Amino acid sequence: MSVAVYLPTEEKTRWWVERLAALMPGRDVRSLRQVAAPGSVRYLVVWRPRPGDIAKFANLRAVISIGAGIDHVLADPDLPPGLPIIRTTGRDLTQRMREYVALHVLRHHRDMPRQLQAQRERDWHAIVVPVAPNRVVGVMGLGNLGAAAARTLADLGFATRGWSRRGGAVPGVETFAGAEEFAGFLSGCEILVNLLPLTDATRGILGADLFDRLAPGACVVNCARGAHLVEEDLLAALATGQVRQATLDVFRQEPLPSDDPFWHHPAITVTPHVAAQIDPATGARLIADNIETFDATGTCDDLADAARGY
Ligand code: NAP
Ligand code: GLV
Repeated sequence: MSVAVYLPTEEKTRWWVERLAALMPGRDVRSLRQVAAPGSVRYLVVWRPRPGDIAKFANLRAVISIGAGIDHVLADPDLPPGLPIIRTTGRDLTQRMREYVALHVLRHHRDMPRQLQAQRERDWHAIVVPVAPNRVVGVMGLGNLGAAAARTLADLGFATRGWSRRGGAVPGVETFAGAEEFAGFLSGCEILVNLLPLTDATRGILGADLFDRLAPGACVVNCARGAHLVEEDLLAALATGQVRQATLDVFRQEPLPSDDPFWHHPAITVTPHVAAQIDPATGARLIADNIETFDATGTCDDLADAARGY
């Protein structure tokens, strides 16, 4: 059994090859570029594979995404149908996302951008905000990351709502399910966090219609995928004040081009897709374990539902 690895940079690919080889003694682990016999490759470990790369390996048993999302694998138009896709999750990833969401929700809640502006102007300006239980915060997506983020916000005392396809209980969180309950979820929401997977059903969901349904002056935190956001609609909602502030970690084009208006927009905070990057040492251990488990049993906990898209 051999394992091939592809990441967009050679340096990162080399690191993952060395690490996985050390964790999987007896397995032939190499960079996709160095594979001499494509027919021998059973597992392909990837981040943003180039279209057509996966189809070159006729005997693959599974593709492994170095990350929780599988949209970057499903984006390949030549992806062989029915090929199992395994994602990479784990406690480190969840912990990092909880930190990111807590940081940015608290920052919007306490109106830190305006407070910092007051400091720059040497203005002793006390900004009084509602106490957290009087602040409605919504989390879209209640999977591994969304449910953990929503629980964290509820523990901080926020009036926390969560929305998912099927619904389901999250302690301390008022949950909403499906398209029928979406408007109720959004209505009155003052800070909205997006943690949905990118699928045909969720692409462009952060658009004018959604912004109009939020409480006036709401804040938006997008830490899922750039293609969830209709960028022009956000700029328009910021211009009218319907959206007051936004934190964006993900973008349609990454790295964000240097001339993108988001970089210097006074109401937008840009972070470079760092909300929850898997810790490489932990991630490699998880991937090696998932490959061995899948190879032995034909399944593993992180097996995604490729037909569903996440
Ligand atoms: P997950 O465990 O697969 O959970 C997805 C959640 O979204 C589930 O609650 C699901 O509902 C819900 N959902 C899916 N389609 C929906 C729809 N059409 N309407 C309503 N709810 C829908 O995903 P995860 O591990 O939490 O990760 C979420 C996303 O975060 C990833 O896909 C990735 O894009 C992003 N991410 C970003 C970073 C970063 O650093 N910025 C890091 C990691 C991940 P059901 O359970 O009811 O189906
Ligand atoms: C990162 O964006 C991931 O999908 O893990």
